[in-house]
Amino acid sequence: MEAVVPEIESVLHETRSFAPSAAFAAASALDSQRLAALRRRAAQDHEGFWAQQAATQLDWQRPFDLTLDDSAAPHYRWFVGGRLNASYNCLDRHLPERAAQDALIFENDDGDVQRWTYAQLHAEVCQLANALRALGIDKGDRVVLYLPMGPQAVMAMQACARIGAIHSVVFGGFSAESLKDRIEDAGARLVITADAAPRGGKRVALKTTVDLALTEGCSSVERVLVYQRLGGCVMDPMRDVWWHDVVPQQPTQCEPEWVESSHPLFLLYTSGSTGRPKGVQHSTGGYLLGATVSMQWVFDLRPGDVFWCTADIGWITGHSYVSYGPLSNGITQLIFEGIPTYPDGERFWRMIAAHKVSIFYTAPTAIRSLMRLGDELPLRHDLSSLRLLGSVGEPINPEAWLWYQRVIGGGRCPIVDTWWQTETGAIMIAPIPGAMATKPGSCTLPLPGICAEIVDEDGQPVTQAGQGGLLVVTKPWPSMLTTVWNNDERFRDTYFGRFGPRVYVAGDGAQRDDDGYFWILGRIDDVLNVSGHRLGTMEVESALAAHEAVAEAAVVGRPHEIKGEAILAFVVVRGSREAALKADLPRELRDWVASRLGAIARPDEIRLVEALPKTRSGKIMRRLLRAVGRGETAAQDTSTLENPAILDQLRGS
Ligand code: WT7
Repeated sequence: MEAVVPEIESVLHETRSFAPSAAFAAASALDSQRLAALRRRAAQDHEGFWAQQAATQLDWQRPFDLTLDDSAAPHYRWFVGGRLNASYNCLDRHLPERAAQDALIFENDDGDVQRWTYAQLHAEVCQLANALRALGIDKGDRVVLYLPMGPQAVMAMQACARIGAIHSVVFGGFSAESLKDRIEDAGARLVITADAAPRGGKRVALKTTVDLALTEGCSSVERVLVYQRLGGCVMDPMRDVWWHDVVPQQPTQCEPEWVESSHPLFLLYTSGSTGRPKGVQHSTGGYLLGATVSMQWVFDLRPGDVFWCTADIGWITGHSYVSYGPLSNGITQLIFEGIPTYPDGERFWRMIAAHKVSIFYTAPTAIRSLMRLGDELPLRHDLSSLRLLGSVGEPINPEAWLWYQRVIGGGRCPIVDTWWQTETGAIMIAPIPGAMATKPGSCTLPLPGICAEIVDEDGQPVTQAGQGGLLVVTKPWPSMLTTVWNNDERFRDTYFGRFGPRVYVAGDGAQRDDDGYFWILGRIDDVLNVSGHRLGTMEVESALAAHEAVAEAAVVGRPHEIKGEAILAFVVVRGSREAALKADLPRELRDWVASRLGAIARPDEIRLVEALPKTRSGKIMRRLLRAVGRGETAAQDTSTLENPAILDQLRGS
């Protein structure tokens, strides 16, 4: 990690503050008094606080006898001795009271709607779980899910959890190679996919991608279970099984596998600054507790709510606030197969009105792109069912925050800007909407029981308002990652390598204001955040380097109005730069990266240069490249630059 905190510019000089309305606050379960009591309790007795939450919020088949084992820190174990099942907590425990309540309302790409009550969802999850067992899947086996966003994806996660299998969801937009890497690292025995899926009117051929991934390796995979969504894919009779051939005839009851609290519930691969994506491993008990309570606190759940989180299940947001959090809390949620702009830019607003969504949770990049289409589109729809809005994935600029608040929320809905990560499992820093004022661009304060702080390069607390530092968490929390799959060392080095085994380093820069509110400044490492999706600069660089025309490549992020960050790559070609330009190599390279990694990794711009800027000791000057990417020409120290003449090429001039 480079010491670049001072380089990060705060775009946020926002002082406006918005308190919840008296009516909103009065109806909130967590008002300011109760919140203060929770915070006091957590501050006095961190473990006791979490023990009480775990005992009251989750159903345990066997109670835990030790709240936290920190003897092997940073390998913490929460709720030791306790046994539970995540799917039981998400489904079975609601049946006495909510069997007939909708669990899922699904709108597909075409606009058709289907519903599942808790009883129906329970039955179908049990059938799928039985089918997985029939296919030979046992507790602890890894199952890769490569599925479109929809009810089957939620069911597959729940079915794995039910039998103690470890799911690893791979986003349906990732390439065959990315899929293969993740399957191989996890050693998956089964892949669950769909033949193909519609997305924004286009056809995504998921099964073809799986076939491609499996022809190149993946020897651990024995079976592929295929859900028929659109029709039309090739099946391998020795390996592939249709969902409709093996699932519907299964019994609708399935005894859950009771697992230890620390039993892995899932892996989710995410990018770091170096190396290949890592399999972030989450536990059953701690993770589920984090997803459950954060959902209640931050989204201020009330009876009758219809919750809609627009994230795909391929990301952590789709795990915690589509699959686990909403179901564990027994609420009704909307899930959506498509994209915000299909068939037109009114899709989200039409859906909110049609399904009377009361809580809407989306990403700044979506807000910004819809904002650009004008106020008229949302104003055509009755959005009065909304009472709370959420944002996640990247810093939200005040302009987008204020638009969201005024136009979508009609000025009456609090906005919860939620900071967290794949690794944290659940929301960490966010407003409690009935109890706190919010400020555009600030994620406000850590949740009760979460000890987030800002420290300087030496690990000393930054106490001065407005001073930037590293965001750290100084006490373990239940939903924290338990390790990196198959790589404890990488886990320790990446997150606890800097200030010892008790201080989790998040990788973000942050500062606090006079009220102690947190303002996230962005990543301090070589991780990009493109439309709220995480990408390592190194992943993109390796993909570029794998092209025969490329000698060397360096990748940086630069600010982008809609996506937050755009990918800019500097490439040194083998042979003549002029000839490469003439042959439109930049275009070919952009497509090349998209095909190797997935469309979200397609560079926005490729600049062919004769050399990369290096220091005399041969290090690529990334800081210079980032400054060039931001269009800053002055005030760059280029005295250590080996070849100052290349600056013009770097600037694209
Ligand atoms: C990184 C984590 C959390 C689910 C989606 C992303 C950035 C996330 C915010 C926010 C400012 C944010 C951080 C973080 N980030 N939420 N509300 N304000 N930045 O999960 O892919 O693991 O990425 O996203 O940089 O480290 P992820």
